Amino acid sequence: MSTSVPSTPAPSTTTAARTIEHGKRDGFASLSAGRLRADSFPMRLFTKGNAKHWDPASIDFSQDAADFAAMTDDERWQTCALAAQFMAGEESVTQDLQPFVAAMAAEGRLADEMYLTQFLYEEAKHTQAFRLWFDAVGMTGDLHEFIEHNEHYQEIFTRALPESLYALGDDPGPANQVRASVTYNHVVEGTLALTGYFAWHKICAERGILPGMQKVIKHIGDDERRHMAWGTFTCRRHVAADDTLWDVVDGRMQELMVPAMGVVTGTVDRWPDGQAPFGIDLNELAEYAMDKVGRRLGAIESARGADLRTIDSDAEPERLEDRFHAEDQRVLAAAAAS
Ligand SMILES: [Fe+2]
Ligand SMILES: [Fe+2]
Repeated sequence: MSTSVPSTPAPSTTTAARTIEHGKRDGFASLSAGRLRADSFPMRLFTKGNAKHWDPASIDFSQDAADFAAMTDDERWQTCALAAQFMAGEESVTQDLQPFVAAMAAEGRLADEMYLTQFLYEEAKHTQAFRLWFDAVGMTGDLHEFIEHNEHYQEIFTRALPESLYALGDDPGPANQVRASVTYNHVVEGTLALTGYFAWHKICAERGILPGMQKVIKHIGDDERRHMAWGTFTCRRHVAADDTLWDVVDGRMQELMVPAMGVVTGTVDRWPDGQAPFGIDLNELAEYAMDKVGRRLGAIESARGADLRTIDSDAEPERLEDRFHAEDQRVLAAAAAS
């Protein structure tokens, strides 16, 4: 006796023409053949992020409170300045990512839109993690004094970042996306946040202090690597589609390098002869930042003239961040052992 097997309906070829954009939709990406593929770059990041979920409220900061109380006044000031810059930066990126989510919706890229909702949620968690840390070490008063002395910080976080992101509301096209991504992913996240987190993690590991903060930074670093990979992917797909956009990548980077390095040096400007607490080494920080920026830009440049279909699933931006992670792990292990 033969068994009849229901046949899978053939994918409709008419769905590709449907509009997915909010407010204008006459179709759904998830219902359309091939519009929400698990192997696409943003869906892979989304899956990875779900598997790496963490909860800031589960981290124990009691030893951090004891370590903080035992610091000298200068060390406490430097610690608060770093943590306050990170926390205000996380709040800024939480708020300023929203136009990019809408830009992905306008382009009908549901997978990117889904990934960016996770990305946004992670930025909100990063903000929460720092707030919990400040509360745990007893710094519950106003903290603006720790960022207001740094004019470059103000320039990046109150002007360059929001202006380039909110420009997507007027025109979500490729050139504005590239400017927004270079500003957000490659300057704020790649140059400032990841460099700062790495340096701070290394100092804490070397001294064996602030174990709760070390956990926070490890989790944030993991999240930020996916964020960076998405930024590299987004610039790659635009540069592959239109070679003139490489000049937009390069030009925006040049515009922001001076204020970005100013943010880094501004943190230690107050100390005579550059003798910052914890032996923070500015040259080491700058070298770390420039090495990573150069290699990420190289990954974007390598997309010039590439086939767009391969860019959509090419794992190179993830591999690059994994290589950076492996390099950082080796340095941190050596710092903890020293
Ligand atoms: Fe973040
Ligand atoms: Fe981020």
